[in-house]
Amino acid sequence: MSFKQRTHTCGELRTSHIGNYITLNGWIDRVRDLGGVLFIDMRDRYGKTQIVFNPQKCSSEVYELAKELRSEFVVSVSGNVEKRPEGTENSDLPTGEIDVIISSLEILNRSLTPPFSISEEDGTNEETRLKYRYLDLRRDAVQKNLLMRHKMYQVTRNYFSENNFIEVETPVLMKSTPEGARDYLVPSRVHHGKFYALPQSPQTYKQILMVAGFDRYFQIVKCFRDEDLRADRQPEFTQIDVEISFPDEELVYKIVEGCMTRLYKEVLNVEIPSPFPRMSYHDAMEKYGSDKPDLRFDLQLTNVTDVVKDSPFRLFAENVAKGGAVAGMKISNGNEIGRNQIDGYTDFMKKLGAGGLIWGRVVGDKIESPTEKHITQEYFQKIAKKMNCVDGDLILLASGSWINTFSWLGTLRLEIARKRNLIPASAGWDETQMKFLWVTEFPMFEFNEEEKRFVAMHHPFTSPSMEDVHFLDSEPNKARARAYDLVLNGNEIAGGSIRIHSSELQSKVFSLLGIGEEEAKRKFGFMLDAFKYGAPPHGGIAFGFDRIAMLMSGSKSIRDVIAFPKTTSAMSLMDEAPSEVDEKQLKELHIRVI
Ligand code: AMO
Repeated sequence: MSFKQRTHTCGELRTSHIGNYITLNGWIDRVRDLGGVLFIDMRDRYGKTQIVFNPQKCSSEVYELAKELRSEFVVSVSGNVEKRPEGTENSDLPTGEIDVIISSLEILNRSLTPPFSISEEDGTNEETRLKYRYLDLRRDAVQKNLLMRHKMYQVTRNYFSENNFIEVETPVLMKSTPEGARDYLVPSRVHHGKFYALPQSPQTYKQILMVAGFDRYFQIVKCFRDEDLRADRQPEFTQIDVEISFPDEELVYKIVEGCMTRLYKEVLNVEIPSPFPRMSYHDAMEKYGSDKPDLRFDLQLTNVTDVVKDSPFRLFAENVAKGGAVAGMKISNGNEIGRNQIDGYTDFMKKLGAGGLIWGRVVGDKIESPTEKHITQEYFQKIAKKMNCVDGDLILLASGSWINTFSWLGTLRLEIARKRNLIPASAGWDETQMKFLWVTEFPMFEFNEEEKRFVAMHHPFTSPSMEDVHFLDSEPNKARARAYDLVLNGNEIAGGSIRIHSSELQSKVFSLLGIGEEEAKRKFGFMLDAFKYGAPPHGGIAFGFDRIAMLMSGSKSIRDVIAFPKTTSAMSLMDEAPSEVDEKQLKELHIRVI
């Protein structure tokens, strides 16, 4: 099909083009018939231009054809650029001062009536939008996000390349690397009964690249994890993956901070102050009840275990005696919160698994509480003092194991912040609302109650802190890892660690994780072998690219910044993946569906 090629895009024409004869190619956005003159918004990814079919100024053939135009038809039009009549300019559109008076029209393709409006936010549900993603992707908001994402790729590549990092692609069909999630498996046709795994991350490969002497590696890479999905999680997602030889934590922090400040500056023109503040995992848990604390609002927690350990209140005393913790959250001026609402918080805590919620109001120099009789005024006063409470504050207390007590209160903290509107609207471009935080000194291991064994808190290749190595033999739960996460407004946007580079220490950590010698050899023999040939000290990090794009664009869901996302049930509604396959394909793979 031959048609007139565009001379300009739909976002380009200004008053300086008045008098020019031009051609546009694009989509019909909206048609208005004002007394026989057709005013039509024409659209492409660069913008919108108003084109006009005036029966006085075009042939009757062109005018009759124009009357057939509907939303989403694809056209090539030519005409003269004219100044809009006084008073009809549209200051919201960059092209709003001109019209194109059309004299030639070719319809390149027609369109069915789309199931939702492209140009207006009409409340269509996400399912319909994802099913017709090709139409949804025409919408301004999604296009802006993907253009921003494109810019992020360029800035990232430039930044790392300028800092001597080499981009290396690693395999997508690989051997399983446990990172805490389930693998996506791909059966081998050639090797019956054998499977590749899709990478949960290129962790082992990037470490091998350090052994190979590449020194500084980065990759913008797809990772695959078969895990429960949420608004900030996708089964396939993108990382900026980074590994460095001869690093310490400071070097990693500096490189990451450099990347984040550069992204914000070049993509959004926002200055992010750095270095970013740091907080140990222990403090993050005890102050905010989370390893990814949202620092945009206060509502801090306090550990009051010491204060209540010999209190007459049996619940506290017994819990402390068996190694548990008691903690409080202070809501400044929280006395206005009514009984009903507090009961709501109690139900919320119970749903999380807590026994309940104990509370007291600071009224003058007294604490008023339904539990006062049990806790006693004396101990309530001690608690209030430790929590720095003043008249008018509300105290909420929880009791349980250390991890549960702080996690429950941390979850309640977020709920209260949401309910009381303490979280500022999270527009990504307001630097006063950008609360970056390094969370450091994570424990090496956490105990998995279900499996009754230790699992790696970050991953099995993370080095213990040198001063904690001695704990590995006696009390592994006390060993801290050289691991760090970067948090932004309560979102984990990057995570990494300094690695183990000795095959002996690596074997020891495998064994603590319940991976026996035989299994370690089978699964990671190549890595343990590689470490025997001069592995340099190394470490790195991976950024969650989609999460950063979500935050930078001020989107609510990660799906808004991914061209073809999956739903929370891991479906692609447009092409209906996953789908059944032919019997023949299964046969070739020696697979039978039961
Ligand atoms: P980690 O598992 O912490 O580390 O992942 C790094 C970052 O990737 C993002 N992320 C996700 N984003 C969207 N959907 C998901 N399902 C998802 N899972 C993780 C998060 C997270 O901080 N190999 C290590 C890195 C290293 O040690 O260098 C790793 O993958 O933002």
